[in-house]
Amino acid sequence: MDLQHWLGQANDAIQQWADTFGPYERHPSLLVEDDRFAAAFEEFTGRLTDNYPFFHPHYAGQMLKPSHPAAVVGYLTTMLINPNNHALDGGPATARMEREAVAQLAAMFGYDTHLGHLTTSGTIANLEALFVARELHPGRGVAYSADAHYTHGRMCHVLGMKGYPIPTDDRGRISLDALEETLRTGEVGTVVLTAGTTGLGTVDPIHTALALRDRYGVRLHVDAAYGGFFTLLAGTAGPEGITPEPWRAIARCDSIVVDPHKHGLQPYGCGAVLFRDPEVGRFYLHDSPYTYFTSTDLHLGEISLECSRAGASAAALWLTFQLLPPTPDGLGRVLGGRPPGRPALGRADPRIRRP
Ligand SMILES: Cc1ncc(COP(=O)(O)O)c(C=O)c1O
Repeated sequence: MDLQHWLGQANDAIQQWADTFGPYERHPSLLVEDDRFAAAFEEFTGRLTDNYPFFHPHYAGQMLKPSHPAAVVGYLTTMLINPNNHALDGGPATARMEREAVAQLAAMFGYDTHLGHLTTSGTIANLEALFVARELHPGRGVAYSADAHYTHGRMCHVLGMKGYPIPTDDRGRISLDALEETLRTGEVGTVVLTAGTTGLGTVDPIHTALALRDRYGVRLHVDAAYGGFFTLLAGTAGPEGITPEPWRAIARCDSIVVDPHKHGLQPYGCGAVLFRDPEVGRFYLHDSPYTYFTSTDLHLGEISLECSRAGASAAALWLTFQLLPPTPDGLGRVLGGRPPGRPALGRADPRIRRP
């Protein structure tokens, strides 16, 4: 797809829409002479050269990736309108796109029911999951592996909960023996399991931890901010194949965080939190004197801690999912490095040769 062509189309489409509202005069502050802008733009683009080549296949220094061209066009087109997904009063079209994209994320993990929304980041998404955990288990703490993202310890502090870092085994996975020892104290209400640790990409044994929930009555939260989209490769074989058990077990956990702005090919400003039980929406209950007037449908601000959020983020994700849905043959194909049309290999596929 030709990015320049579609950015031009974006401008035309938004102008056509704007014209339906009748003529108006642009505010003088918006009328900038090209010559004046050129000088600022030259300095601006010069400064931007002080960056690392995230787009380059030889660059593997950080988890940053360039956004998919569809995400760029989706984001920039919507930014020309600038809707706010806090409420249907601020961004009706993009709020609906957000609900559709979030439903696709929930289906990707195998949730039959869900309540969820996009967030500005994985940090805020995890904060929301731990906030709900605190409401359900007041006075009890949160256990997470010593290799879990630092945000868990930090957010425990913010929420006034005690954090319990649990040692890891020699592969960087949470030690279930050490975890169980801590759970025996009865002081822990929630266990955070990581699907793709930030440092090593390790996946905790989520399937084995399910039994601990039943035994100790704890909540299980999966931080899949970094690794979540790799669930699309679970059960496939070949170089990209991934052991399926922990990934399949995520469907039975209570909440999930996944960051489309990591492996979902989105620009920054796009995390997501999903709850298996939609009833947890009651913990968010509040009223707003400024919004929630235009519809009796659910406003996303009614089920999130953040207020204003870019509708453009939801639009970018929705448009990307039209091309690459979060399915094994959609985004999974990209993550597995498979060329278009080549099916995922199953475990029993005769083309797989093992050493
Ligand atoms: C596992 C995990 N959780 C949470 C986060 C925090 O996400 P964000 O940087 O979007 O706030 C990260 C970021 O690297 C992460 O890898």
